[in-house]
Amino acid sequence: MRSDEGDFRAMERAAQLAADYRREVATAPRNPTAGYAEIHARFDGPVPEQGSDGLALIEELARGARDGLRPIVSPRFYGWVNGHSHLAGVAADWLTSAWGQNCAGIPMTPAGAAVEAVAARWLLELLHLPAESSVGLVSGATIANFVGLAAARGELLRRQGWNVEDDGLYGAPPLPVLIGADAHNTVFSGLRYLGLGEKRVTSVATDAEGRMLPAALEAALKAAGAPAIVIGQAGQINTGVSDPFSVIAPMIHAHGGWLHVDGAFGLWARASERHRHLLDGIEQADSMATDGHKWLQTPYDCGFAICRHEAAHRRAMEMQASYLTRDDPSFRHPGNYVPELSRRSRGFAAWAMMRRLGREGVARMVDEDVAVAQYMAQGMAAIPGVAVLNQPELNQFMVRFGEDRGAEAGDALTRATVEQIQRDAVAYMGTALWRGRLVMRVSVCSIATTMADADLTVAAVRDAWDTVRGANV
Ligand SMILES: Cc1ncc(COP(=O)(O)O)c(C=O)c1O
Repeated sequence: MRSDEGDFRAMERAAQLAADYRREVATAPRNPTAGYAEIHARFDGPVPEQGSDGLALIEELARGARDGLRPIVSPRFYGWVNGHSHLAGVAADWLTSAWGQNCAGIPMTPAGAAVEAVAARWLLELLHLPAESSVGLVSGATIANFVGLAAARGELLRRQGWNVEDDGLYGAPPLPVLIGADAHNTVFSGLRYLGLGEKRVTSVATDAEGRMLPAALEAALKAAGAPAIVIGQAGQINTGVSDPFSVIAPMIHAHGGWLHVDGAFGLWARASERHRHLLDGIEQADSMATDGHKWLQTPYDCGFAICRHEAAHRRAMEMQASYLTRDDPSFRHPGNYVPELSRRSRGFAAWAMMRRLGREGVARMVDEDVAVAQYMAQGMAAIPGVAVLNQPELNQFMVRFGEDRGAEAGDALTRATVEQIQRDAVAYMGTALWRGRLVMRVSVCSIATTMADADLTVAAVRDAWDTVRGANV
């Protein structure tokens, strides 16, 4: 059955359903009322023998999934570092799907490849990164970290006369990996995929908020015995802090090493004049990872792998096949910088968000989110029995409840309060572990969040804590 009139009607209906959902969730975020098992049972069953009408199946999908949707795009969602999937980006993404553009190469999609090239350049300009950097558009920061680390692995070994792309790691010179003690889990996945191992890394001590300590790094670089890959971060997942790049980057390079930075959300501080200083020196990093679906507010999925050494980036990622014809070699070939062949043309949505917000809009969004985080942290700290563990310099902070009753009780009360906040459904926060203790983690990463939302959120936290405290006197 090829696409027919029912499928055209399905597209139009999907647009209507999507707009209705977004209008509703903007003002009245609701918790999912159906959980995984219920939704699964609704959709489960034997493979349908007969196909369905396109419009009917879209109705069936929307009806079946609606009450299991988490309102991630609502203005008071702080549970994980999630952006807003801005409607302008969503609309561009619809076109991307409808156009069916596979961005494997220029001949396949001249428009997809060209717009991606412009988005890549705009990204570097927005983030004040070296213009000669290469950029790959990938599914997210996890894969962007993998790409950066692949380039690092290849280049450091190449400098020692070893071609890892051709010969693999068997018999290769040692390649030490140093990593800040509070790094995000996904960089360990990258190390695993690359045969560098999760466990053979050297952990570098950090300060109380998670910044790498330069003296500890210097000692680790000396002890490493060979040029090392050093993995830093811009934006610690719980505290939002960044490593002191202007100190550590020259140190790493003096030892012949490579600095890769996981900047999944934190790299966007570069877009703001007010906050750029937090990442001073990051422009010296050899490779970086960031996300579009976090602080650029694109829909999922969109990540950027940025590398200051284009040749190393390409050596790690490029693939050849007789049927993959190249256009003018002076054009940016999108497949040179990513691990996939077939892939969606992510450049359309990335371009759309940069076009929609402009340099000024991105900077304003970052500044406003940071201001909201700082204001909420202050508001929560003023509630008796509530401890804010870090004054956010960026958009992430942690909160504990009932700390004065001891650490164990604090864990239990923090969990109970977060669960109460989730039940009350004015705002959504989650928990995390920090230095072995349970915390409520607040991530402000949405362009939709305002100071009015901050007031509602602080009031919701106060109410939930009152309820929990009342039940635990
Ligand atoms: C610091 C950091 N690194 C990496 C990631 C992984 O990014 P993604 O989920 O886009 O792959 C995240 C996601 O929250 C993150 O916050």
